[in-house]
Amino acid sequence: MRINPSILSADFVNLQREVERIASADLVHVDVMDNHFVPNLTFGPQMVGRLQAVSPLPLDVHLMISDADRWAPGYAELGAFSVTFHAEAATDAVATARAIRARGSRAGIAVKPGTAIEPLLELLPEFDQVLVMTVEPGFGGQSFMAGTMPKLRALRSAVDASGLDVWLQVDGGIALDTIGIAAEAGADTFVAGSAVYGSASVESAIAELRAAAAAHVH
Ligand code: DX5
Ligand code: ZN
Repeated sequence: MRINPSILSADFVNLQREVERIASADLVHVDVMDNHFVPNLTFGPQMVGRLQAVSPLPLDVHLMISDADRWAPGYAELGAFSVTFHAEAATDAVATARAIRARGSRAGIAVKPGTAIEPLLELLPEFDQVLVMTVEPGFGGQSFMAGTMPKLRALRSAVDASGLDVWLQVDGGIALDTIGIAAEAGADTFVAGSAVYGSASVESAIAELRAAAAAHVH
């Protein structure tokens, strides 16, 4: 079980200090947005490369960008631990996942709340992580969409039946009152932005989220 704070809710002019504050977490979730796939803009490979150089934790890069096939492998080349791209933004998801793995990173595929996961089930061996978005991607601080939980349950069944080591990640609206719902449905990797960086004590927020997830994970 992993807690991945999202630096989307951190102070962008002090990102080195912000990643150093979350050393008790598992990975740093890095949201790359291009103002095209989503209506918001963050940063690109130059910033991610610098984060990779200074972060005490491995990087879990979430690409919310169009033309993922073209850009995703470059983030693996920067040394990111995992690179997750959106199914809606890729034309050849399998080739892109293979290109990410060939560069030494774990390959992840993400789906927006309205995107079905059935086409992915037979492709599970190609991926190390599936990210079920629990809000519409683009912004932190939105409300958790419980209607996405059936997708998580179906993925959990398929992953367990396959015996593969595929992590199931949730992202969006994850906080103390929702993390247990996602854990119970089968998630094992939890992204939290505002619930961590919006807290007076990031260390206790991480510990409390971890305990709340552990109480429901099976
Ligand atoms: C939203 C991003 C999330 C965001 C989550 O599109 O992908 O990673 O930081 O923020 P919270 O946890 O505040 O919903
Ligand atoms: Zn994200």
